[in-house]
Amino acid sequence: MAGLLGIERLERPEIEEILDRAKDFQPVQNESFKRLDLLRGRMVVNLFFEASTRTRTSFEIAAKRLGADAISITASGSSVSKGESLVDTLNTLAAMRPDAIIMRHSASGAPHFLARYLPTPIVNAGDGTHEHPTQALLDARTILDRRPTLEGLRVTIIGDIAHSRVARSNLYLLSKFGARVVLCGPASLLPSELSQLAPGIELTTDMRQAIRGSDVIMMLRVQLERQHESAFPASEYFRFYGLRLEHIGLAKPDVIVMHPGPINRGREISSEVADSQRSVILNQVENGIAVRMAVLERVLTRTCRNS
Ligand code: NCD
Repeated sequence: MAGLLGIERLERPEIEEILDRAKDFQPVQNESFKRLDLLRGRMVVNLFFEASTRTRTSFEIAAKRLGADAISITASGSSVSKGESLVDTLNTLAAMRPDAIIMRHSASGAPHFLARYLPTPIVNAGDGTHEHPTQALLDARTILDRRPTLEGLRVTIIGDIAHSRVARSNLYLLSKFGARVVLCGPASLLPSELSQLAPGIELTTDMRQAIRGSDVIMMLRVQLERQHESAFPASEYFRFYGLRLEHIGLAKPDVIVMHPGPINRGREISSEVADSQRSVILNQVENGIAVRMAVLERVLTRTCRNS
């Protein structure tokens, strides 16, 4: 069934199509979004087994702006908290015949597994440490709003790389488009096998070296919920891997600072940087809606396979 499980298996033209379509859905400056009729009568279910503010809300808004109905279910308020298995929960929802299920789960591969059994298209809204495809798409849209191409850009991703599905999806996408990706973080959070995911990936534990000459700096939150033991002392983290104004001068003068959110001020990024002219963090949030509109339209109007 048609869906969106990850960036890894998407072809470059498919990604380009989504990014171009998202541009059509971006609001004209100072104008509010108009509600469209493209998915009238369709229904999507948001099923989130992990916390979310941005992703869940923007999928819901995206569906509604296209004229679809959207309902959101969180694990704590569902029968999952009564011991129902993932397969039973999903089968129950699928029996109500929504047109798509948007799903976030702490287990890597959970949506891929379910997509094999369910007749309903599944959109992956983040699976464990694996992929978060719509985040990479909205990140690419945000960069391309400011740069003509991704080709040749030095994109430095800093933080808890090991546990980041955002890093992995971005790595796949940026590599497909010829960006030079630099991954930086403490050695305990920087798995060396990631350099094999795509050609030309640079790994370093030295934040200054990583930032030097960067076009884009993408900061990541330390995913404490996925760490079974502390990988780096919290008190030291900001000193070594927190983005501060003094770092910005090492990058290209027009560097873009990104963060998928939620941000932890004073932990991975200083307020001065997060609120600076270089920061596009809220533009990312805004683009989340346009990109998810493009994804939902594609998923609900096409009959390609889950990818
Ligand atoms: C990210 C996620 O959940 O993977 N957040 C998001 O979707 N915007 C990153 C994070 O939680 O740190």
